[in-house]
Amino acid sequence: MKYISFVSKKGGVAKSTSAIHYAYWLTKEGYEVALIDDDANRTVLKWQARANDNPKFSPPFVVASFAKMAKAVAGVDFVILDTQASISDDDLKDLAEDSDLVVIPTKVDVDSASAATETAKAINDSKGTYRILLTDVLTSGTAGAELAEDLKEDGYLVLESFVRRGEGVRHASLAGATLAQQPGKYRMPWRDYQKVFSEIHSIID
Ligand SMILES: Nc1ncnc2c1ncn2[C@@H]1O[C@H](COP(=O)(O)OP(=O)(O)O)[C@@H](O)[C@H]1O
Ligand SMILES: [Mg+2]
Repeated sequence: MKYISFVSKKGGVAKSTSAIHYAYWLTKEGYEVALIDDDANRTVLKWQARANDNPKFSPPFVVASFAKMAKAVAGVDFVILDTQASISDDDLKDLAEDSDLVVIPTKVDVDSASAATETAKAINDSKGTYRILLTDVLTSGTAGAELAEDLKEDGYLVLESFVRRGEGVRHASLAGATLAQQPGKYRMPWRDYQKVFSEIHSIID
């Protein structure tokens, strides 16, 4: 069983979005997956409730709160953990010790990026079990590439693939579905997520 957690000391950086899409991608690759919502806001569980009202989509993986984790993870190949921003350094270290990979999403702004580096530092990782993931990257301009370069220069581990900004993310969330179910141009960030998850797969394999 592999255990992948999505963490950051900041909210709104695409932890839940990325966790949902990673769970979906893994099931499409043929794995049994449990997606665990460890956020008091219950973002993933609320998304699942919208999915239950969506006649065209039902999540092909188990979704459960952290409190119901024990039974939900029985027999699965992957446990994906979505966390809340207010996470203690002790919990971060514990998570990193138990995770095959900790993914730290960040948007391309100074507050998200500094939360990402603080999160990486708190993990204080000697085994390289975290990667920073750039999300919501503007398709115009070079801000994303520049942030990735700066982070790497400072010694942080950054995924080569990143996720561009796309209106489809909001549509998918509202519908209780994923980007893969969105039509035409609204699907765009799904291509990015597929590259990201392939890269993650090559790291944890
Ligand atoms: N690639 C993206 N393009 C556009 N909006 C995005 C993208 N990724 C995330 N968002 C938006 O950013 C907000 C925060 O995302 P969310 O996954 O809930 O973050 P977190 O779990 O870190 O708080 C949501 O409104 C989501 O729709
Ligand atoms: Mg969240």
